[in-house]
Amino acid sequence: MSAAARIGLLATVLAAAGAAASPNPPAIVPRPAQVQVHPGQFSLTADTVLVGTGEAAGQAVTAFGVFLAASGGPTLAHAPAHSGAGVIRFALRDAQPGGAESYRLSVTPQRVLVTAPDAAGLFYGAVTLWQLATAPEAGGKIPALEIADAPRFPWRGLMLDSARHLQSVDFILRSIDWMALHKLNVLSWHLTDDQGWRLEIRRYPRLTSVGAWRVEAGSGPQHDIDPATGAPRRYGGFYTQAEVRRIVTHAAARHVTVVPEIDLPGHSSAAIVAYPELGVLEHPPTVVPADWGIYPNLLNVEEGTFEFFEHVLDEVMELFPSHIINLGGDEAVKDQWRSSPRIQARMRDLQVKDEVALQGYFTARLGAYLRAHGRQLAGWDEILEGGVPPDALVMSWRGVQGAISAAAAGHDTVLSPDPALYLDNRQGDSPGEPPGRQRPLRLADVYHFDPLPGPLAQDRAHVRGVQANLWTEHVRTDARAAYMTWPRAAALAEVAWSPPAQDYPDFERRLTTLLPRYRQLGIAYSADAFDAQHAPAADEPQDSAHLKSCSAELGLALEDDAPIVGPRAVFVVDIMNPCWIFPAVDLTGGPSFSAAVGQVPFNFQLGADIDKIHLEAPATAGGELKVRLDSCEGETLAALPLAPALANDAVTTLPTVRLPARAGRHDLCLRFAQRGLDPLWVIDWVQVRP
Ligand code: ACM
Repeated sequence: MSAAARIGLLATVLAAAGAAASPNPPAIVPRPAQVQVHPGQFSLTADTVLVGTGEAAGQAVTAFGVFLAASGGPTLAHAPAHSGAGVIRFALRDAQPGGAESYRLSVTPQRVLVTAPDAAGLFYGAVTLWQLATAPEAGGKIPALEIADAPRFPWRGLMLDSARHLQSVDFILRSIDWMALHKLNVLSWHLTDDQGWRLEIRRYPRLTSVGAWRVEAGSGPQHDIDPATGAPRRYGGFYTQAEVRRIVTHAAARHVTVVPEIDLPGHSSAAIVAYPELGVLEHPPTVVPADWGIYPNLLNVEEGTFEFFEHVLDEVMELFPSHIINLGGDEAVKDQWRSSPRIQARMRDLQVKDEVALQGYFTARLGAYLRAHGRQLAGWDEILEGGVPPDALVMSWRGVQGAISAAAAGHDTVLSPDPALYLDNRQGDSPGEPPGRQRPLRLADVYHFDPLPGPLAQDRAHVRGVQANLWTEHVRTDARAAYMTWPRAAALAEVAWSPPAQDYPDFERRLTTLLPRYRQLGIAYSADAFDAQHAPAADEPQDSAHLKSCSAELGLALEDDAPIVGPRAVFVVDIMNPCWIFPAVDLTGGPSFSAAVGQVPFNFQLGADIDKIHLEAPATAGGELKVRLDSCEGETLAALPLAPALANDAVTTLPTVRLPARAGRHDLCLRFAQRGLDPLWVIDWVQVRP
């Protein structure tokens, strides 16, 4: 045997020995940059002492103690200095390699040492140590090891939309904890939109007294009369400045920056309803709207409007220490600006060549105001179109092209593309999934997201990081917000923090050991990635989630608008083509056919696209559910009148009919014949029995 071969064999034997002592590297999410496991363990007991001198180390000690106790661990004593064994020590090290937010964690059987060049690094060392100390079956034994770890990107973000539906302060505080335990560090907070203004502004109280309240769409909410007013009950609310301060302070202690978003000049209907002088139209909207989609309402560009939003930004900057302030800029359709003589005259005065450039002017003016106050503008990638200040941070959402263009133009950018990082897409297709966009965005999809696509692989200096966005049109409760976020945010953390090396089975192994901690912390995560889904038998009711959509244009899992109290049905429907296929139904002998149907408000602002939706004309006043053979152009086998369902805001089971006998199995096409789009008729379930 040659020397080289002997060394090779020795290395194999050592690796095998290491593997036997520790079958798997420790389960840490996000995966650390470097881990070396050694023989032996440190025993964490009630006698273990936490040691840290100075503010940063003291904060890390406190954080670790709190995490440990929240996971059922012992409450440990804290000493400023302590010599001897059984100690977990946190210490700043100025000269340590690794850069901002990095840390080193050294565990021997005698002691644990966490070092870092900054407070954030010490905090992340504490997070990793918490994961090690609370691993299932660890029993307080932490494997001896050396970890050297640092983030791949400085911006590791989640966006929470509190405008469409708002979340409780308590939920937001807990979400920040959960983010920090995954080393996520930016909470982008979408605070204003057409359907609600959620941030208290002292100078403009109507933004919240008026702009924070709407009546939800649909006949269910119309029938829900508030006895105090005799009118339909309003949905809404807002965050007081005291609550915002509490959230920002809580986040800062966990090294999470809260980046506020005030979305301008589109997505501004609520502000315009509160202060009509901000709008373009002679008769601006007078109630906060409840449709989803893109409203045409824009802000005007009068001096008074800039002054108004400068005053708003004064209070925003007072509340949020974040260097970055997001001014939105997305989906500002220019029709109102184009057709307003007042806006056109203003454009001539300002020597702005067109409406796109006018948005550039709008953004640049408020961006300059932020810069003059030591802050920096961010906006969605539309801001690139109108000529944007060079210091603007670009949030790429229309795919990744915005990030590529932004970086090429010298802007810093964050990748938060639709749909790859849009958490309003459901995580799977089981009927138990809550409402959302239908197309599944699975845990593995988020894990496999490439944060440096195309030319960004070479041009990564401008990529600040990644962010997943939870839009909440279809996310009505805190529990659903948690469900839609977790565990996909753990995959996001891995993309944002860990060095690029993809091994999904290993990620799943590590994540699975984290799940008991999720349950302890009360994170109502989706188990869709882990549970096998069982399709119903052929003669059982088929939920709309089990039927096939005739198309994949704008598939939604929509919640019913009724009943007001209690569980509501969720209907999977392509709103551009409400049509379902029940595949391979045995029609031998003429089976019975039952269907349960619902009606939901058609509350979607689709602009001209609404003309692309074609509905069949009904034969009866109330409309019918039509069942066709083989395809949607096939022979009509049955037409079930909707009359019994007309007065019911919730789900109605229609009288069962018998389908004519045909030999063998056939696809059935299910479509409603109805007069108008609103309400939209939808399938809850159908059942065919011999
Ligand atoms: C966006 O999704 N409109 C940023």
